[in-house]
Amino acid sequence: MDPDDPLYIYELEGALNDPEGFFKENFLAHWREGESHFLFFSHPREEDLRKFLKTQMGGTWVRTHNLSYKDWQGGTPVDSLSIGKFLFIPPWASRLEDPEGIMIRLDPGVVFGSGTHPTTRDCLQALLWIYEREQPRKVLDLGTGTGILSLAAVSLGAEEVLAVDLNPACVRAAEKNIGLNDLKEKIRIFEGRAEEYIHLPADLVMANIHFTVIRELITLPTFFEKNWVILSGLLRSEFLEIKHRLQVPGFEILKEWDSEFTWFTLAGRNKAEL
Ligand SMILES: C[S@@+](CC[C@H](N)C(=O)[O-])C[C@H]1O[C@@H](n2cnc3c(N)ncnc32)[C@H](O)[C@@H]1O
Repeated sequence: MDPDDPLYIYELEGALNDPEGFFKENFLAHWREGESHFLFFSHPREEDLRKFLKTQMGGTWVRTHNLSYKDWQGGTPVDSLSIGKFLFIPPWASRLEDPEGIMIRLDPGVVFGSGTHPTTRDCLQALLWIYEREQPRKVLDLGTGTGILSLAAVSLGAEEVLAVDLNPACVRAAEKNIGLNDLKEKIRIFEGRAEEYIHLPADLVMANIHFTVIRELITLPTFFEKNWVILSGLLRSEFLEIKHRLQVPGFEILKEWDSEFTWFTLAGRNKAEL
């Protein structure tokens, strides 16, 4: 998407049945959070939206948002971005001569995980820090967004990544990015809740996700079966609570990152698994 491309975003509420199947042309993404839905288009589709709603049992049109792709991304055009030794390149960026570092193709689309947010940046730093010490082979990426952390983990040596997000727009964006980097063999993506995938075996679990989800994940015994852990997406008071709850025998917090004391990230390890 070009920075000045328009976005037509229709906010709906209720249980919607298969908007992906109904809208085909100019349909960019279906962002779903519980019963709230945001349907993204590159062209206006009011007429079709009315027709779609007539096919639904419930579902109401709450409001419409019109803005440019650049404004959706917070006013800054998405461009090549370097974080540590990673270089993220959107498909529309001009080719770099002899780029240095690990090149990853990334189209953020309209979902979280462009690399500009402090929590993503600190998760990438945490990944680099862990892979300097060990090479976790099997990775779980809970709340994958664009798939950015999964792509980074594979570029550092992970052989098998399972990425999960409950938002169908994220699953589509991550699938696209996995394809752009030709990594379908190594990264599998599922639409679902993190809590339902945490039991899967992995050497490293990373979750840059809402505090309430992390709080639930760390009550589950299978969370403590992973050698390495990266947790992020936590504000200060939430971080302190999570750290407190992580004071359990065998679990060790090894390093912490913060962005201007607002967003916090931690890397931890399960000694019991060593
Ligand atoms: C902060 S974003 C992180 C995206 C990316 N991993 C990154 O580091 O930039 C959190 C993601 O978690 C997803 N999410 C929120 N709650 C979830 C849950 N319970 N299970 C799975 N995914 C969830 C959201 O849709 C969103 O894509």
